[in-house]
Amino acid sequence: MAGQNGNRRIVFIGSDHAGFEAKQHIIDYIREKGYAESVTDLGTHSDKRVDYPDYGVAVAKAVTGHKNAFGIVICGTGIGISIAANKVPGARAALCTSPLHAEMARKHNDANILALGGRTTPLPEMESITDTWFRTEFEGGRHRRRVEKIHALTEKQG
Ligand code: RB5
Repeated sequence: MAGQNGNRRIVFIGSDHAGFEAKQHIIDYIREKGYAESVTDLGTHSDKRVDYPDYGVAVAKAVTGHKNAFGIVICGTGIGISIAANKVPGARAALCTSPLHAEMARKHNDANILALGGRTTPLPEMESITDTWFRTEFEGGRHRRRVEKIHALTEKQG
């Protein structure tokens, strides 16, 4: 629920040029809805062409370096930036194109980074995805064991 954990939750957000406009919109939306205590914009800060891995990794490092932190990453499709974010140990970035994806990513995968496609998902749909994301909790139980297995892979590889 908005305002439940929302008051203590912190959010880091980043995009490339293709996600820039959507990022600005979603920052305002999260603030308006009160989904987080703070929203930190890690760039990019214009529609000048940049490389999405730089922003995916910056968000993932910030999220994994803080308690109760979530990330949002946006590129043209959400694909490249989520691939990059998931290279950071502890990151669980999920590309969501519908509220159902967001619901399942939180409930079953305990995803901590929401990836969106600025060129593929219209802004009203992004808002619905964001609503579901912040209103859905991890279910734990058998899903925790599976998430731990994912993390064990990254630990072994260093
Ligand atoms: C940039 O043109 C585009 O490739 C990028 O935003 C993203 O869609 C990559 O996955």
